[in-house]
Amino acid sequence: MSIPSSSSPSGGSVATVVSPSNIAFVKYWGARDLERAVPENASLSMTLRACVTRTTARVADLEQDEILWRGSTDEAELRPPPPAFVERARRHLDLLRARLGVDARFRIATENSFPAAAGIASSASGFSALALATTAALGLQPSIEEASELARLGGSGSATRSVAGGYIQWPQTGWDAASESGGAIEQVAPASHWDLRDVIAIVSSGAKGVSSLDGHRRARSSPFFARRLETLPERLAIVRRALAEQDFATLGREIEAEAIDLHMMAMTSRPPIYYWTAATLDVLAAVRELRADGVPAWSTMDAGANVHVICRPAGQEDVVARLGDVPGVDRCILDGVGDGPRRTAEHLA
Ligand code: PMV
Repeated sequence: MSIPSSSSPSGGSVATVVSPSNIAFVKYWGARDLERAVPENASLSMTLRACVTRTTARVADLEQDEILWRGSTDEAELRPPPPAFVERARRHLDLLRARLGVDARFRIATENSFPAAAGIASSASGFSALALATTAALGLQPSIEEASELARLGGSGSATRSVAGGYIQWPQTGWDAASESGGAIEQVAPASHWDLRDVIAIVSSGAKGVSSLDGHRRARSSPFFARRLETLPERLAIVRRALAEQDFATLGREIEAEAIDLHMMAMTSRPPIYYWTAATLDVLAAVRELRADGVPAWSTMDAGANVHVICRPAGQEDVVARLGDVPGVDRCILDGVGDGPRRTAEHLA
């Protein structure tokens, strides 16, 4: 990937990157080294195209990085984000500077096309966009491997999978789970391989109560975690085979089981984490009904209450219609597999 920088009239450098989120089919849950995001297991996701973060980074003469955001795309003005957000972004930038051996400070402006911190992996698109925009503003052109390593500095492992499009595994096949390295990403297939859709049923737009960082910290406290790690290589192999063969029934069964497994880990960790709401369960039931009615659709969820319903293009309309009838579903976001991040000249600030 080449992300050359462009100079602003002030002589400083500015770059804007639009980076997508992703939905994990096999989930990253639990880290051996959280700050460097060295995972306990390999994960695999589909890069999305509609749920994106747009981030502008400007090299600026500042004591400290300045960060503004638009909390939602309906807001007219950029404003200061919540303190926890600023702290995490600054931490990421500090690690990035240390890793790159640079001292620049940045003026950052960022916005999401979807609700943040609600199980739509805003950290994935957010940190991917931040790493790609800042390196581009510095005039650097990281390879995909370098970009993915930079994106996960500070702990968002899912960000590492958002720097490329299609179906992405992290770490790549052959990664040694005993190693102290976070490993590289592997594109299992490009987006053009299989047009899968993701209808995201929004049942909660608020921030979730427990961050995925805390979830990773608690993962090992579940009595079922060791068993999960034992069974995951087989699950990953099944998902990869189903993707290669475009076997939707096998893929769907496996990803739905995987999502339940993740939430069982969360609910049985100490202290327990409950991401689901009553509406989450109603959506899961509606998806089972869809299948009983002959519409192939399967659910998955990240660390949040919202449900991603994976289907093929032919089933998308039926899925949207059925989910729209479920009380508690505020709206559906129509998404699908996408090609990954892109540079744009439409700067945010
Ligand atoms: O990248 P993080 O630290 O936000 O963790 C992601 C955790 C899950 O979304 C639940 C799973 C995943 O692989 O994306």
